Amino acid sequence: MADELLNWYDANARVLPWRVPPVARKAGQMPDPYRVWVAEVMLQQTTVAAVTAYFEDFMRRWPRVEDIAAATDSEVMAAWAGLGYYARARNLLKCARVVAGEYRGVFPSSEAELLKLPGIGPYTAAAVGAIAFDQPTVVLDGNVERVMARLDRVEKPLPGAKEELRELARERSDAMRPGDYAQAVMDLGATICTPRSPACGICPWAHHCRARAAGDPASFPRRARKGPKPVRTGVVYVVIRDDGAVLLERRPNKGLLGGMLGWPGSEWSESGSYGVPPVVAGWADLPEEVRHTFTHFHLRLKVRLGRVAQGANPTIGTFCSRGDFDPNSLPTVMRKVWEKVQP
Ligand code: ADE
Repeated sequence: MADELLNWYDANARVLPWRVPPVARKAGQMPDPYRVWVAEVMLQQTTVAAVTAYFEDFMRRWPRVEDIAAATDSEVMAAWAGLGYYARARNLLKCARVVAGEYRGVFPSSEAELLKLPGIGPYTAAAVGAIAFDQPTVVLDGNVERVMARLDRVEKPLPGAKEELRELARERSDAMRPGDYAQAVMDLGATICTPRSPACGICPWAHHCRARAAGDPASFPRRARKGPKPVRTGVVYVVIRDDGAVLLERRPNKGLLGGMLGWPGSEWSESGSYGVPPVVAGWADLPEEVRHTFTHFHLRLKVRLGRVAQGANPTIGTFCSRGDFDPNSLPTVMRKVWEKVQP
């Protein structure tokens, strides 16, 4: 089975900026582990389409692990803004500093050593081990889980089925070309064995696939039923000073949007809260609220706009001059707020 998939990959591998194509790889070229690591961290919970521009931007700014290790937290968080799951960016930087310092800029090659680095979990250690170093690891992401669940029509629902799916992935893995194999299964899952309407007609594994034979591939993997997402509400205060400066607050490192800049505001809760305005101002409430969906809840934010004079003295946050203010350095929900404020 691995050979069938690898033959397909040799002809159909996606061209990706962090990838060494199969022909070059067979000729002995290996990818830069730093690039593979950054890409794999970005690709967790995020599509190739969303990641590519961020990846190129990171590599332009910080071509080597020593470069990003020397960057400030706020530079890296601003560059990550919009990708989501911000703990990944904080962990990326923590890991870069350890690799640049204790490891003299050289990533370890074994899965076990990679796992010891801060912020590198089982998925990243397996993916970097296989792709950058051809270690025979088992790479299990959402794509691979879906492919395995369909091949064997695994009835057990996720997340409980994870270890069973890992075992199936292990049995099918390839010891000759672990890096290409890992990338091939992920490409298969992303381009052919897609969640809603898989293209079984062109799948190299179609004749092995029980779900295909039964005619119900899209109903796998089975998932434990989840209730609807709760709705949380809150208020944000956008303060604009006479000279155009805007009031921003850096959120604490722990928790949702940790370490990111944003507009000051209330807690977000199912019961709702107004919080305390950060400064004395006449507040104008925008007619439309901002809506944004996070992994575990829907958010509806009321936006209150206040204009203040030069001497204003807010209790929280810092004024940022309009020249220095870049809405693209805000997480998406905070950027949506700014878009509503802009006439
Ligand atoms: N998704 C996550 N990592 C990937 C990779 N290396 N190739 C293709 N898709 C991926």
